[in-house]
Amino acid sequence: MKITIHKLFEYLLETADPPPEAFLGFSLSTPPVLGDFLADLDPGLSLDWNGQSFQGLPALRERVIDQAGLGGLCAAKDVLITAGAAEANYLCFRQLLQAGDHLVTETPGWPQAAVMAKAIGTRLTCVPRRAEAGWDLDLDALSAAVTPDTRMIFLSNPNNPTGRLLPAESLQAIAAIADRVGAWLVVDEVYAGLEWSGPRPPSIAGVYDRGISTGSVSKALGLQGIRTGWMICRDPGLIMDAVIARENSSEIMNILGEHIAEIALRPERLGPALSRARQDGARTLARLNDFIESEPRLSWTAPEAGLIGLARLHGLAAEPFAKHLLADPYRTFLLPGTAYDQPAHIRLGVGGGAAANLDEGLRRLSACLTAWPG
Ligand SMILES: Cc1ncc(COP(=O)(O)O)c(C=O)c1O
Repeated sequence: MKITIHKLFEYLLETADPPPEAFLGFSLSTPPVLGDFLADLDPGLSLDWNGQSFQGLPALRERVIDQAGLGGLCAAKDVLITAGAAEANYLCFRQLLQAGDHLVTETPGWPQAAVMAKAIGTRLTCVPRRAEAGWDLDLDALSAAVTPDTRMIFLSNPNNPTGRLLPAESLQAIAAIADRVGAWLVVDEVYAGLEWSGPRPPSIAGVYDRGISTGSVSKALGLQGIRTGWMICRDPGLIMDAVIARENSSEIMNILGEHIAEIALRPERLGPALSRARQDGARTLARLNDFIESEPRLSWTAPEAGLIGLARLHGLAAEPFAKHLLADPYRTFLLPGTAYDQPAHIRLGVGGGAAANLDEGLRRLSACLTAWPG
């Protein structure tokens, strides 16, 4: 069956025009500009692809291993560079799942799993993360959902949209659940790098031999526009299957994106870039925490990592409210929880730097909440 639209993307498409004046939706750190990389880019760089590896620049693959803390556990041969984490996930779904297979994922969670399960004809079980439990994933419920037919478990860590983290012990327990039935365990780690209350959890590719870590330079580094991400897995057959599928989608590497990503991930750049992103993110999240505290119609469990979280809207429905906030005179964007089957919640994001116009957005959100009847 063809791939059909998901509520989240439908909402993004519907709301792009006219452009909002403030955003409470950005999940990315402040994006760098091309000029930040020019000094390290070779002007003689050939933009031809010939002679390069089908898996991506070896130097970039080394950096991917290092940034994930996988040195000694995985190597550059275990990495495939892709057009963002989105393509890495896509290649996993496409090559690992068949009609009739069983996929287990979480809800709320990244909707790509449900979209691809529907297109492929895979049976889907969604394990709920509950607001009352602080959005924790219930590992007993996950274990009960996994059966001998389960071919894949797909999770995001940190979780999109709640920013909840699975720590090392939980990841080991989930790997054991997957191993019980020989299932693949794909963990989308695209939001890794901005942890607020503890260390970055280990990448699943180092925890489980059928573990696949997907990620990119899009979020903590704000480089979504260069479309450069990866998958990491110690199974050479899986990497080769993904190369074969990719030959029929984006085909080969994005040479300029890979060079910029390699520069961005050099230790002398990565460390300072992450500490800047942490400082900015901590400040904007503190601003949002104070705001939610002062608004009687809002409450939330703050994200443990990343720049987005789900807030409860008391006494009003998320989607009509989000649409009202987007219209004149407020012109402010946020994502209604209906994009995640959470109709009583809104997704708030505080990334995007000055372009997001965060303070003004919060002022307008407050005015809209006050004016809303009831
Ligand atoms: C959980 C998750 N995975 C993947 C993506 C896509 O990221 P990329 O730009 O690396 O393709 C996003 C983007 O919003 C995301 O939130």
